[in-house]
Amino acid sequence: MYVVLLGPPGAGKGSQAPELAREIGGVHISTGEMLRAALRSGTPYGLKAREYMETGRLVPDDIVLGMLMERLEQDDARENVVLDGFPRNEAQALALDETLRAGGKRVDCAVNIEVPEEVLVQRLGGRWTCSSCGAIYHQAFHPPRRAGVCDACGGELRQRLDDHDEAVKQRLQVYFTETAPVVEFYRQAGRLAEVNGNQAREAVTRDLLAAVQRECAAERQAR
Ligand code: AP5
Repeated sequence: MYVVLLGPPGAGKGSQAPELAREIGGVHISTGEMLRAALRSGTPYGLKAREYMETGRLVPDDIVLGMLMERLEQDDARENVVLDGFPRNEAQALALDETLRAGGKRVDCAVNIEVPEEVLVQRLGGRWTCSSCGAIYHQAFHPPRRAGVCDACGGELRQRLDDHDEAVKQRLQVYFTETAPVVEFYRQAGRLAEVNGNQAREAVTRDLLAAVQRECAAERQAR
């Protein structure tokens, strides 16, 4: 089963995806995380991506597609996958469909997590991420038990380089101009579910799992 998680920056994709991946017995693949890891290790992909990420612009398709297609060829990504942060534009959505089709697969469903813009800004401004395991916290909405320390693994919590005001503004604008059309792409294809992301984390998880069971299962049966 291939599930695409859609939604603006701060909608909660990264917070929800690990739970969903566990539920479907698969892996969570985040292109944002892959790019940040490439940047930390100084790989050619990471070095090229840096200026785009820090200023809140989309990294060029050739870099992201190259990286993602390599990841999708790995053994653990052949069956059940939750994609977070990809596709970000129609060209990426078409490229994904084409790659999966070549292997006799397709995106079973896309779920759009909806959250009002003013809430997104509050969420991004207070986000802390574990530098070791990637767990996501918020200073007010989901604080760690000890400030600066990850509950799950004891790793150090850090703020992301692209969570400063200017980059957040740019990321939201890029989302509405370049990525929102991807929601329509999956709606037109009859493969879209929508979930209210502006409620408690656990309620979002519940609704997300229900939407995936309903929509993905229906899509698979229809084939
Ligand atoms: P990426 O890492 O994908 O970031 P994003 O899409 O901007 O999304 P975020 O990670 O900021 O938000 P999220 O929805 O995951 O929210 P989260 O769960 O963290 O991309 C970063 C950059 O990489 C891009 O700008 C681009 O440059 C590049 N990039 C990546 N993919 C690309 C692609 N395909 N093509 C080109 N470029 C690409 O939650 C946010 C906060 O809210 C947290 O603090 C969390 O604790 C809190 N929160 C979550 N849920 C709730 C809730 N229900 N109630 C209260 N608080 C909540």
